[in-house]
Amino acid sequence: MTITDAIRSRRSIYPAQYSGEHINDEVIHTLLENANWAPNHYHTEPWRFMVFKDDGLKKLMSKLAELYKMYNVDTFSDAKYARYADRAEQISHSIVVAVDISDKPNLPEIEEIAAASCAVQNILLTLAEYPKVGGYWSTGKLVYTPEFKEFLGLEENQLCMGMIHLGMIKPDSPKPQGKRRPAGEKIQWVVS
Ligand SMILES: Cc1cc2nc3c(=O)[nH]c(=O)nc-3n(C[C@H](O)[C@H](O)[C@H](O)COP(=O)(O)O)c2cc1C
Repeated sequence: MTITDAIRSRRSIYPAQYSGEHINDEVIHTLLENANWAPNHYHTEPWRFMVFKDDGLKKLMSKLAELYKMYNVDTFSDAKYARYADRAEQISHSIVVAVDISDKPNLPEIEEIAAASCAVQNILLTLAEYPKVGGYWSTGKLVYTPEFKEFLGLEENQLCMGMIHLGMIKPDSPKPQGKRRPAGEKIQWVVS
C-alpha cells in the first residue's frame, strides 16, 4: 500500500462495528512506537499516552458515564448513559492522549498540541497495516473537564486531547465511505 492509499483510505471506525475481541498488545506497542516518531518542535516530544484495557477500560468508561450524568442534568438520557457500558464491551483498548505543555518561552502551546496531533495521526495511519483493527479519535466536552483530568492524574501543565478507541472490526462490516469537499476549495497558490 502506498502512503497516498493509506491516507485516503483511512476511516474512523466506531465501537458499534467492533466485535469485542481483543487486539494483541503487540499491535498497541507498534502504534505507540510510531506515534513517538511524530515531528515536534524543540524536541519536546510532548505526547503522553495511557492505555486502558480490561478492568482499566471499564473504569475509564464508568468515569465517563459518571461525568456524562453530572454534566447533562437537563438533557440526561438513560440510553446515552448505558452506551458507556456497551463501549467497555465493544472496545478492546482505549489510548488516552495527553499533551505536556512545555514552559519554553519560544514554544507556543499550539505547537505542542500540533505535535501531539501528528502523533495521533501516526497511530491512525499505522492501522492501515492491521485491516482487522478499527479505531477513531474520540473527544467531547467531558474529556476536557477538571474531573477527568484528575481521574487521569495529569499535571497542571498537561491537557487531555481525548482518546483513541480501538477494536477488532466485526467480519463483513462495511467500510464507511470517505467524504471530503474538494481540496481545491481550501488552497490558494500565491505566485506573485
Ligand atoms: C480532534 C478530533 C476529535 C474527534 N472527536 C470525535 C468524537 O468525539 N466523536 C466522533 O464520533 N468522532 C470524532 N472524531 C472523528 C471524526 O468524526 C472523523 O474523523 C470525521 O467524521 C471524518 O471521518 P474519517 O475519519 O473517516 O475521515 C474526531 C476527529 C478529530 C480530528
